[in-house]
Amino acid sequence: MSLSAEDAKKLVGEKAAEFVQSGMVVGLGTGSTAYYAINKIGEMVRDGLDIIAIPTSKASEAQALKVGIPLTTLDECQLIDLTIDGADEIDADLNLIKGMGGALLREKIVASVSKQVLIIADERKIVDVLGTRSPLPVEVVPFGIEVCMKKLAPMCDSLALRMKDGKPYITDNNNYIIDCRFEKIENPSGLEAEINNIPGIVENGLFIGLATSAIVESKGELRILKTT
Ligand code: A5P
Repeated sequence: MSLSAEDAKKLVGEKAAEFVQSGMVVGLGTGSTAYYAINKIGEMVRDGLDIIAIPTSKASEAQALKVGIPLTTLDECQLIDLTIDGADEIDADLNLIKGMGGALLREKIVASVSKQVLIIADERKIVDVLGTRSPLPVEVVPFGIEVCMKKLAPMCDSLALRMKDGKPYITDNNNYIIDCRFEKIENPSGLEAEINNIPGIVENGLFIGLATSAIVESKGELRILKTT
């Protein structure tokens, strides 16, 4: 039985919430799938679950406050037990492309200090090779936008400054995003480092070796994927 995209997001989001236990510091991801995990965690908190959480975006922060999840900051707490987040692409090694929701920088910082990173998605996000489905979002300081676009151009097939309402899209960190299209990304960790080496680029959406497991929905069934 195939589910609607919304039902699939709810199924994986709510399943992921089952992995949250009292006493944990929890990273709250961003996006339309993480939304369902945050709602469910809020419900569990109202039923007595005792956690503290760190959101990866202003949107997730607002949602968490609305559903009653107690929050802390990375300054106060620098080690996270479990982060639950969505993804735009997932490969067989659980390497990811993230950032179509614009929150890649905070998401990557949070993932980098998380003992477990649980990714939630429907099976359309699974790819054989990264870069074949989604563009790669790259967060750039506005001051360096033209220089960064010139330096990125030879590294990808095409690129575009992300726009919203006729103006450049602004991230929670007051930066811009360049979406880079590839036919495929042959060497994700090499490309991640190469892109981040350009002055003015703050971060890119390649998450290599950060995810520890994933819950994926396919035709109404759930699969749990783990790194070996
Ligand atoms: C946010 O910046 C992203 O990394 C999201 O986690 C990713 O785009 C997945 O979002 P959806 O769950 O909305 O597809």
